[in-house]
Amino acid sequence: MFRTPIRRMATAARQSLKIGLIPADGIGKEVIPAARRVLEAIGSDIPKPEFVPLLAGWEVFVRSGTALPEETVEALRECDGALFGAVSSPSRRVTGYSSPIVALRKELDLYANVRPVISVAANPEEKPAVDLVVVRENTECLYVKQEQLVPTENGKEARATRLITERASRRIGKMAFEIALGRPRKVWLPSSLPRIIVVEILNLFARKIQQVTIIHKSNVLSVTDGLFRETIRQVPADANGRYDSVKLEEQIVDSAVYRLFREPQIYDVMVAPNLYGDIISDAAAALVGSLGLVPSVNAGDKFIMGEPVHGSAPDIEGKGIANPIAAIRSAALMIRHMGYTNGADRIDRAVDQVVREGQVLTPDLGGKSSTDDVLNAVLKKL
Ligand code: NAI
Ligand code: MG
Repeated sequence: MFRTPIRRMATAARQSLKIGLIPADGIGKEVIPAARRVLEAIGSDIPKPEFVPLLAGWEVFVRSGTALPEETVEALRECDGALFGAVSSPSRRVTGYSSPIVALRKELDLYANVRPVISVAANPEEKPAVDLVVVRENTECLYVKQEQLVPTENGKEARATRLITERASRRIGKMAFEIALGRPRKVWLPSSLPRIIVVEILNLFARKIQQVTIIHKSNVLSVTDGLFRETIRQVPADANGRYDSVKLEEQIVDSAVYRLFREPQIYDVMVAPNLYGDIISDAAAALVGSLGLVPSVNAGDKFIMGEPVHGSAPDIEGKGIANPIAAIRSAALMIRHMGYTNGADRIDRAVDQVVREGQVLTPDLGGKSSTDDVLNAVLKKL
């Protein structure tokens, strides 16, 4: 997957890894403990993990009047990383409530939401049908939440501010190029070919197809999306040739979704403003079978937080059937981006085997197994 950690922390001297755990609401409370068990099980591939349970979310808001207690933010500043479950944000406006995950991304300046979407091929020798990364800007766009309700003579008028800055666009653009660079394209060949030579030759060419696609709608929103697009187009020009091997493409968001469903293999790294990135990654999750499979990390220059892409899934909460794989993969992605590649590879391989064998699957993937069954199957493969 990625070979270049976003935030390298792996050093021989490090004795332990302090991980904040914020299960938050709904199935977050069912899948984050599973991710914890997997991190505990990988042994010496990471320094001894020390877990710090922390509160945030809707339930905490109902109990205490705040969705993100100050102690949680303070404790996170002392941690090396964190895992967040999901929060049950209401769809109506609730006075005093604000989504803690959106706040945490801003508070810790976790400006990139990195979401790899990869299908598990039936046969490990085959190329996965979908293998892309959505790099979503995480701090601005419509998520600055500056909304107003204005009474007019024709009834209420709702307005929202959409913020796009050059600074945020440049840093998310850089992140997308770095991630593309860290993804040497694997070449998949039938196992009968003399692999070593052919693979090496093809890899030379394959490296040339690392690609970043800017997702925008600057045909309509020429000022905001225009700035996003222009700024990212400038990133390789300012990089002294560092990104010469990465092809730069762009695509208008609606047709990007169309092409994503018809020919997902054309995408490598998709970089998008906050809202488009949110929607595209959920859509891409459908292509690989379930939201319950897709991980993410919220990454900044100083902190990294794993978080499954899915929400709190109130429809299945408390039934013990939530798919823990997205959370487990998010833990793997977090340690991968800290530099613990071996541990992350082991977890991903174990999960791939369980999915590929298809014997122990939760109902979202057509199975009958429970969260614990899937966790135990993954632990066994480790
Ligand atoms: P959702 O992602 O919670 O669920 C969508 C559908 O996918 C549901 O049918 C659910 O059962 C299924 N699903 C999701 N994760 C699954 C898993 N691990 N295993 C099996 N099935 C899974 O989105 P929804 O229903 O729109 O939102 C529910 C709540 O979650 C809302 O309050 C929303 O605000 C919140 N939410 C929170 C997010 C976060 O914390 N980052 C992200 C998205 C939504
Ligand atoms: Mg989403």
